[in-house]
Amino acid sequence: MIVLGIETSCDETAAAVVSADRRILSNVVHSQLEDHAPHGGVVPEIAARAHLEAVNRVVDAAMRQAGAGWDDLGGIAATAGPGLIGGVMVGLMTGKALAAYHGLPFIGVNHLEGHALSPRLSHGVEFPYLLLLVSGGHTQILLAEDVGAYTLLGSTMDDAAGECFDKSAKLLGLPQPGGPALEALAALCADPAAAASRFSLPQPLAGRAGCDFSFSGLKTAMREAIDRLTTDQGTVAQSDAADLAAALQQAVAGHLAARLDRVFKTCPRRPTALVAAGGVASNRAVRAALEALAARHGLAFVAPPADLCTDNGAMIAWAGLERLIRGEVSPMDIAARPRWPLDEKQV
Ligand code: KG4
Ligand code: ZN
Repeated sequence: MIVLGIETSCDETAAAVVSADRRILSNVVHSQLEDHAPHGGVVPEIAARAHLEAVNRVVDAAMRQAGAGWDDLGGIAATAGPGLIGGVMVGLMTGKALAAYHGLPFIGVNHLEGHALSPRLSHGVEFPYLLLLVSGGHTQILLAEDVGAYTLLGSTMDDAAGECFDKSAKLLGLPQPGGPALEALAALCADPAAAASRFSLPQPLAGRAGCDFSFSGLKTAMREAIDRLTTDQGTVAQSDAADLAAALQQAVAGHLAARLDRVFKTCPRRPTALVAAGGVASNRAVRAALEALAARHGLAFVAPPADLCTDNGAMIAWAGLERLIRGEVSPMDIAARPRWPLDEKQV
């Protein structure tokens, strides 16, 4: 079976076709970066309009690159939330309309489940696995026991990890999204360990019980460090900025690993692997810290390739496919949801 997936929940208009034997036949992403750049962040109204303009073209490209006709599809999946509601509605309506017109089953996908199941598309990971979901909007630890069965074991008390990177990058005058820009800047630092001790950024919640995260203290520490480094001309020397970027990466990676480490004591089942998904999971310092943690616990570490970590249509097609294979279909009146937690038991 092959499925078309459509993703429009934030600032990427994306569509992809994937097969049940885990082949990605196409994966088209149209980024709205240029539309939002003058505003310094994603503007929901601009995003919705840009999705509307791009979605048909992106879907056509995904179908063409996959060499697929509508009759070849076993179904159509689209993100139904959570996200910026105007954008979600554009993708959801497009998916529903195409499914109705072509007489295909439709499935509305939780964007977070798209991220959560992406390591099954890339690596065929078996349930149950320990999942660190780290994106621009979420930082959560979940035990993924089955499709639709997630237990929340920890989450951020304030900002998401991606937000911490984005806001720090902004303070350093870097373009958005800040994470990749900050990683590129950090790559210029010759000695990350020395940089970390030079700034000694705080270790959030060190020694505190539980498995939750906090990133707001790091953000404040970054602002103070940047103020100290700023010259009379109002600039920060590139070598200082690179050191600070490297120190922040170490601090975020260390915090994620330290809090995850605590989960192993309380995790109700022995996981098959430690899995990271979401945009921040493409960061190499973060990956290295998690890989070392997994090795200490005798587990494999799995993270999808970078283009499956950031928002994409393939993960939506795959999550839809996993549900369609289990015999699920969404009603055509399924609504767009701005909020949609993965573990509904917690709400
Ligand atoms: O999963 P995603 O594409 O969208 C959301 O659902 O949020 O994640 C976007 C977030 C942004 O905060 C971005 O700065 C961050 O992921 N990100 C990174 C990297 N690539 C993306 N953060 C750190 N290092 C990266 N290489
Ligand atoms: Zn996402």
